[in-house]
Amino acid sequence: MSYKTIVVGTDGSPTASVAVEVAQKLAKRLRGKLVLVGALDAYGVARQPLQTALYEAAEAARAKKVDATAELIEGTPGESILAAATKHDAELIVVGNRGMGQATRFRLGSVPDWIAHDTPCDLLIVDTTGRAGPRPPAPPYSRILAGTDGSGTATEAVRKAFTLASVYAGSVMLVHVGDPIVGAIKLEEVASTKPEDVEVGMRAVEGDPAQRICELAESEDVQLVVVGNKGMAGVRRFLGSVPNKVAHEVPSDVLIVKTVDRSVEDLVAGHGGLVNVDGRQLAVYRDDGGHTYELSPRCTHMGCTVDWNDSARTWDCPCHGSRFDFDGSVVRGPAAEPLERVGGTAPAKESVPSGAGSAAGGTAEPSAVPSPGPSSGRRADPGIRKERYVIVGASLAGATAAATLREQGFDGEVVLIGAEPALPYERPPLSKAFLRGESTIQEAMVRPEAFYADNRIETRFGTTVVAVDPSDTTLTVAGGDPVSFGKLLIATGARNRRFPIPGIDLEGVLDLRTLGDAARIRAEMLPGRRVVLAGMGFIGSEVAASLRQRGLEVHVVAGGKAPLDRVLGEDVGRVIEGIHRDHGVEMTFGDQVAGFEGNGRVRTVKTASGLGLDCDFVVLGLGVEPAAGFLDGSGIDVDDGVVVDEHCRASVAGVFAAGDVANHYHPVFGRRIRTEHWNNARQQGRVAALNMMGRDTPYEEIHWFWSDQYEHTIQYAGHHREWDDLVIRGSLESRSFAAFYMLGGRIQAVVSVDRPAEVQDAMGVIRAGGQADPAKLRDEAVDLASLG
Ligand SMILES: Cc1cc2nc3c(=O)[nH]c(=O)nc-3n(C[C@H](O)[C@H](O)[C@H](O)COP(=O)(O)OP(=O)(O)OC[C@H]3O[C@@H](n4cnc5c(N)ncnc54)[C@H](O)[C@@H]3O)c2cc1C
Ligand code: FES
Repeated sequence: MSYKTIVVGTDGSPTASVAVEVAQKLAKRLRGKLVLVGALDAYGVARQPLQTALYEAAEAARAKKVDATAELIEGTPGESILAAATKHDAELIVVGNRGMGQATRFRLGSVPDWIAHDTPCDLLIVDTTGRAGPRPPAPPYSRILAGTDGSGTATEAVRKAFTLASVYAGSVMLVHVGDPIVGAIKLEEVASTKPEDVEVGMRAVEGDPAQRICELAESEDVQLVVVGNKGMAGVRRFLGSVPNKVAHEVPSDVLIVKTVDRSVEDLVAGHGGLVNVDGRQLAVYRDDGGHTYELSPRCTHMGCTVDWNDSARTWDCPCHGSRFDFDGSVVRGPAAEPLERVGGTAPAKESVPSGAGSAAGGTAEPSAVPSPGPSSGRRADPGIRKERYVIVGASLAGATAAATLREQGFDGEVVLIGAEPALPYERPPLSKAFLRGESTIQEAMVRPEAFYADNRIETRFGTTVVAVDPSDTTLTVAGGDPVSFGKLLIATGARNRRFPIPGIDLEGVLDLRTLGDAARIRAEMLPGRRVVLAGMGFIGSEVAASLRQRGLEVHVVAGGKAPLDRVLGEDVGRVIEGIHRDHGVEMTFGDQVAGFEGNGRVRTVKTASGLGLDCDFVVLGLGVEPAAGFLDGSGIDVDDGVVVDEHCRASVAGVFAAGDVANHYHPVFGRRIRTEHWNNARQQGRVAALNMMGRDTPYEEIHWFWSDQYEHTIQYAGHHREWDDLVIRGSLESRSFAAFYMLGGRIQAVVSVDRPAEVQDAMGVIRAGGQADPAKLRDEAVDLASLG
């Protein structure tokens, strides 16, 4: 066993001590070195008691003849443990499932969760206070369960399970989830590699892999589950969906083995894998002729690391369901761009024998939006080359439109004006990874800084447009000279609603739309503080999740009967409510905030029903409105946003709108729709640019969005206002389902919890008119893609 250096974190708390004991036992048995780490984070952990606890733990380990050292490192517990693991080139990190101290009420605390996604080595998550109740900390691990699909990466995890079982004279139950016949063959193959002294049992079962592994772990009372990480490293690291779910749900210790393919040479023809090439993690596919495709493993949607799917022969993204062919081309969204090709010996896709990748369906779903060509590609009509196109609003829709103009060969002037001082950035991380301090804003830039100058896009950030005069083709900007335009794109998005609630201007009453807002909330997010959250739409729900993940106490006050019930209905809303209650969020529904009290700074929130909730700060999530006030008097039609046709054209010639601000006619639904979602802003920004250049491209994208809350991804596609039947595929109780909003026998929209692929498949059905037999939608054996 190669665990020569083991890192474990402690703050002296009883839960952390359990993890330390496990690490110490492993180090002793495997003759490894133990590094004990204490975190001095910015939240005022007292140095002296921590130092004492740390050095006492090291002394106790040395008394048991373990080579142990102790270190205090500045940073959060997660940062400190990862820094120590990197510094000591550790092979194993050991953490308790609730993290160090600050015990939270949900099964996997934010510290182990974070480490699981970023660890540079194997990770053992010790069940310190789980469902199984108190028990003496293992090891010895005498009953081990290892999941395998027979792939090279899974076999690496099984090998570790065999070694541990051999060390502890234990047994291993091998589990294959999938086709039982394939399973029986794979299990025999894998079992044949076991050491002589290890007893092996085999189970081939069907169903959801993570769920089945967790059920078997519970029913067989195993002490340790071993799984491969599939995608632990990468530009943006991410744990595959199966180990992620197992880590959150299994009632035992979990060993997540870093199972990256060793080298390109190890890849079997016709297979792909995550491979270390010159110290860089790549997604590599080897074709039958031995040629390779070396791709960036970073999903082009939001940067998660893709996994190789051996049965479909595709690269699948565990986050929101994007699927890429073996050569990186998009098979299924939300990603719109291929995986970046960074090397390899294969000249082109055509040289690969037919069949590779075709099991996935082969071709990308038809998209309403033509993808941009390379910047050197198409040329604009000579007549429009010298025009001046001005874009107001420098965020996702505006910056995407500017980029599209250049990518499509527009040669004239492009001016991008935005009120915010920052480069255009994407907002989704503001309520998720960025808010939790797990990602930087640099990772969320729409385009890198140099892109704008390199593409002759004139930027005027920190500049607010206060009026538009289409007859004179000029804009008035606050404190500046008028700006003339040939054509104008309005991409000013939305802004948060502010209501005249008494005390709303007190310090500590915050809301979230911009990078600055997120930074302000982040600065307040000290573990243990109490937050009142007003409203529980998508952003409110995500903020609640992030606050809980950082160890804050959250009380939500919202109208309605459940989170999101106004949009998704009560049945689905109750599922979201259950998820939040399980994570320790207090919720009061059918009520609303009526006032904020405090001396200079908010201390209490008063509600309409008479509650008085003490708090350290407040986050408002009371909805948004289109940012179109500056168009008053311009003659441009505004009605819940800028009114545009299916070509993004406003009521005045030469003026276009896209993104959150555009109330657009949708040809598939035959009505006007204004949405506030990332995919719409990006795709509509692109189509608006094409139409500014005189192309006749209708915007008929099926609306789609996602929301990440804790370990769950919620996705919605289509558009519904009312429904006469809600058809459930899967089950609401298991929190794994797709729910179809039907009207007159047609799917209007679909929402899912943890079933991203089904939402993407259902989009094809909606695009084709939505006609579908509810019995087929319910039947999980029916491939939704076949109904489109
Ligand atoms: C916290 C948060 C999390 C989100 N998470 C998700 C998610 O998980 N999934 C999802 O699908 N969507 C999500 N969204 C929604 C998504 O980010 C928006 O739909 C998207 O940002 C809309 O882009 P836009 O370019 O149309 O407008 P915006 O992003 O609103 O940008 C408009 C820009 O125009 C500027 N502007 C406004 N008026 C003027 C003016 N008069 N002069 C100059 N500039 C002006 C604004 O300052 C702003 O920079 C989230 C949004 C937020 C706020
Ligand atoms: S990050 Fe890959 S689908 Fe969203």
